[in-house]
Amino acid sequence: MKHFYSVDSVSNVGALVSDALAMKRHSVPHPHHTQGKSMLLLFFNPSLRTRLSTQLAAQQLGMHTICMNAGEGWKWEIESGVIMNMDKAEHIKDAAKVISQYVDIVGIRSFPGLTDREEDYRDELMQEFMTHAEIPVVNMESSIYHPLQSLTDLITIEEARADRAKLKVVLSWAPHPKALPQAVSNSFLQWMAKTNHEVTVTHPHGYELKEEFTQGTTIEYDQMKAFEGADIIYTKNWSAYEPYGQILTEDQHWMVNKKKMAVTNEAKFMHCLPVRRNVVVTDGVMNGPNALIYQQAGNRLHAAKTVIYNLLNQKNNG
Ligand code: CP
Repeated sequence: MKHFYSVDSVSNVGALVSDALAMKRHSVPHPHHTQGKSMLLLFFNPSLRTRLSTQLAAQQLGMHTICMNAGEGWKWEIESGVIMNMDKAEHIKDAAKVISQYVDIVGIRSFPGLTDREEDYRDELMQEFMTHAEIPVVNMESSIYHPLQSLTDLITIEEARADRAKLKVVLSWAPHPKALPQAVSNSFLQWMAKTNHEVTVTHPHGYELKEEFTQGTTIEYDQMKAFEGADIIYTKNWSAYEPYGQILTEDQHWMVNKKKMAVTNEAKFMHCLPVRRNVVVTDGVMNGPNALIYQQAGNRLHAAKTVIYNLLNQKNNG
C-alpha cells in the first residue's frame, strides 16, 4: 500500500485480514522493518480508540510517535493559488512537505463539516495531503471513510463467526441526539462488499446512504424484519445524506434492545464506539454475552499495527 485511505488502497482485503489475525497471534513478523522509524498522529477532532490504538501500534512496532492536536499548530489553507491574507497561516502543501522531512508515516483524522455535501465528499484535506506528502498517509477517519475501523470490524467478524462461511450481516441505523458523519457506515459497506457475506441495511425512510455504498445490499425499512435470522447486528447512527447532515428523526423505536436481538440467529452485536447507551442501544444488549464491542475495540490495535507495518514494507498495494 502507498497510503491507507479507503478499501481501494488495498489490493487484497482477505489477505490484509489474515495478516492482522496473524499479527494478533504472533506479534510482529520482522520488526526491523519498522524499528526506529517515526509516526505523527494528527488530530483535527477528538478520539479515544484511534488515538490510543494507533499510537500504541506504532510503539509496539519499535517506532517513535508524536501525537498532535491540529489546533496546536497553524491553521491550514487547503485551496491552491489563493492569496493567504486571512486567518490561515500555513498551506497544506508546505505542511505535508515539512512533515515528510520529520517522520516516516503520518495518520490524520479530519471529520466533515456536515453542511456542504459536495465539499465533504471531495475529502479535500486528505486528498491534498496525500498529493503533497512524500510518506505514507493513514486515514484515521476522514469526512467520508474510516478504513481502520472497517478493517477492525472484518477481523472481529472473522474471529467471532469463522464457523459460518456466509453470514447475514445487518447494518442498523439507530437514533442519536447529534448529527454524525456517514464515514463509519460508508466504509463498513465498502469493506463488507469485499466479503462473501450477505448485507442488509436498515434505517428509517430518508436515511439512505450514498448509492455507491449500498449497491449489492438489501435495504429494509422494517428494522424487526431486517433483524430476523441475522448473524451480526452492526449498529451506527448517521445523519441524512439528503438533506445533507440533517437529523430527520430521533425515534427511540429504532434503539437496539433485547427484544430485537431475540429474533436474530443469536447475533453478535457490534458498534465502533463511542456509543450513547440507552439511546442507540440498551444496557441489556451492551452488557450481554453477544456484545463484541470490547473485542472490536481491542482489535483496533492489531488493525493499526498491520496497516503501519504493511505501509512501511510496501505490502498489499491497491
Ligand atoms: N471508533 C473510533 O474511531 O473511536 P474514536 O473516535 O474514539 O477514535
